[in-house]
Amino acid sequence: MISDTVYTKILTWFNAYTRSFIDSEPIEKRAATLKFDHTLLVVKNNSLLCDSISIDNKVRLLSDIVALLHDIGRFEQFKKFKTFADRHSVNHAELGIQIIKQHNVLEELEIEYQYLIQNAIMLHNVPSIPPETDGVQKLLCQLIRDADKLDIYRIASEHYKNPDSRDSRIIGIGVTEENTVSEEIVAAICAKKSVDYSQMKSINDFKLVQLGWVFDLNFTMSVHLITARNHYYDILNSLPRNKTTNAVVDVIEQHIKHVLKDFNS
Ligand SMILES: [Fe+2]
Repeated sequence: MISDTVYTKILTWFNAYTRSFIDSEPIEKRAATLKFDHTLLVVKNNSLLCDSISIDNKVRLLSDIVALLHDIGRFEQFKKFKTFADRHSVNHAELGIQIIKQHNVLEELEIEYQYLIQNAIMLHNVPSIPPETDGVQKLLCQLIRDADKLDIYRIASEHYKNPDSRDSRIIGIGVTEENTVSEEIVAAICAKKSVDYSQMKSINDFKLVQLGWVFDLNFTMSVHLITARNHYYDILNSLPRNKTTNAVVDVIEQHIKHVLKDFNS
């Protein structure tokens, strides 16, 4: 049965499980704290998105559980590999599912709900939702992907405003600080296509990819929040501007205007 009580039990497990990582060595403590805070803010973002649409109560509870557990693999990933870069360690979504199973976190839920939650976690970090995904599964994927991106925008904008070497090491995704922009990235974003993350070479590529996530946002509320919270503009202002970057930014901003034209009126 899915109920508020089940969510509270899973939250209690989440707090106890993550506590053991937060009580460890300084660098791990910092990494675990960043992910703990991130998770709680993703849960909040998810609530704001749910408030903005009409959603069944059960589906809403499922989305709360997905938000709470989507990055549960991050804690073990950092402990083992000292990085959050999946390409240099493991797929953190897969690791998360293993941990959820090992700890029987979802045991009180019907099997179909367990699948819905696990699939949404598996698909939270893929470049795009597979086209055959539909119904409640699709909605759960859309919610977690937006709620997660909204908080990654926050982390990125704070990081670009105050680059702190300690957190750079933790947040680092394995790109160079070189002041270049890759043609493949520019072409993909201008065509509103999802970017192959392995093509990212420089920090500017990473910033462009983050700005281009706007095309992948599923809810008008998400686009409203990244602009109203200024996170979009903080990333934009940290990007060196030239003919190439201006062209990409133009395409992105036209899209934002289009999406928000009815929201603000
Ligand atoms: Fe994640």
